[in-house]
Amino acid sequence: MTKATARAYPNMALVKYWGKRDPELMLPLTGSLSMTLDRFATTTSVTRDPDLGGDAFQLNGEPVTGDALRRVTRFLDLVRERSGIREPALVRSRNDGPTAAGLASSASGFAALALAASKAYGLSLDPRDLSRLARRGSGSATRSIVPGMAVWHAGEDDESSFAEPVGAPEIRMIVVVVDAARKEISSREAMRRTALTSPYHRAWAESTEQSLAAMLEACRDEDFTRMGRIAETNALRMHAAILACDPPIRYLEPKSLEVFDAIRALREQGVEVYGTADAGANVVAIARPEDARRVAEALADHGTVTEVGPGPGAELVDEAEADL
Ligand code: DP6
Repeated sequence: MTKATARAYPNMALVKYWGKRDPELMLPLTGSLSMTLDRFATTTSVTRDPDLGGDAFQLNGEPVTGDALRRVTRFLDLVRERSGIREPALVRSRNDGPTAAGLASSASGFAALALAASKAYGLSLDPRDLSRLARRGSGSATRSIVPGMAVWHAGEDDESSFAEPVGAPEIRMIVVVVDAARKEISSREAMRRTALTSPYHRAWAESTEQSLAAMLEACRDEDFTRMGRIAETNALRMHAAILACDPPIRYLEPKSLEVFDAIRALREQGVEVYGTADAGANVVAIARPEDARRVAEALADHGTVTEVGPGPGAELVDEAEADL
């Protein structure tokens, strides 16, 4: 096959990945855990074309150049190295959700690209190897290969750093978009700055290792309360470490904090719900399925609200229905 199309969904981490042990191999500082979502998909087709002068990349119908194209080319180079096929490719991609606004578009993007590119270049990778490949594009993409709840084992080397499914109680997430603008500082840059300048970097890594172990136990025990508490604390610790950078970085806006307050108010009213936020201003509430509607209604005053559940892993799709 010289062409393949794949779809993947973003994921929202309950225990965050924030820091790299090896930026070349994209080995993370710690393991992490997330839920792959059933909304905001990225669909990507990769077409090998020996007549192209180099790789070309279109996102939502527009040609993309510069750093984003270089990142795609570097990723395709890894695929070409493995397959032995040197041809350049046309990559066409569509994001259903906002791009680079803290809703993990790089996760769905590189997960879809990993599957489409590996097929287009004739590789047949199992989910573990696909997850390892996606990792090289963007750390969080490692987990978007996997359906539903996924743990990314930090691992020791390229072989052992991959994601796999985890059994957990069914949960819902209510995404509250308070700001759909592209974030000013990428996760990659902010992560690097945290490692270099935040005095809380080491504490972050240590506490995240403990949080992941506790989260895996809570998932196994189907203990929603514990899962929610760990997730909220872990997210705020990540933002605390980021705030302490020099120069400082602040992703959370006054509106984001209002959502965290509204979540706490709901808890005081007896609805069990917890908050998390990635590297952006948008906040995600974590609730039991039976409470999701009520939580969504209560948070609707704060931004555009979308209820999401566990979604599928990366999958091949028919080009004809992809509408690229
Ligand atoms: C806050 O995966 O976007 O969403 O590996 O440099 O591409 P790179 O970073 P990226 O970082 C995601 C950070 C996060 C937390 C998480 O998803 O675990």
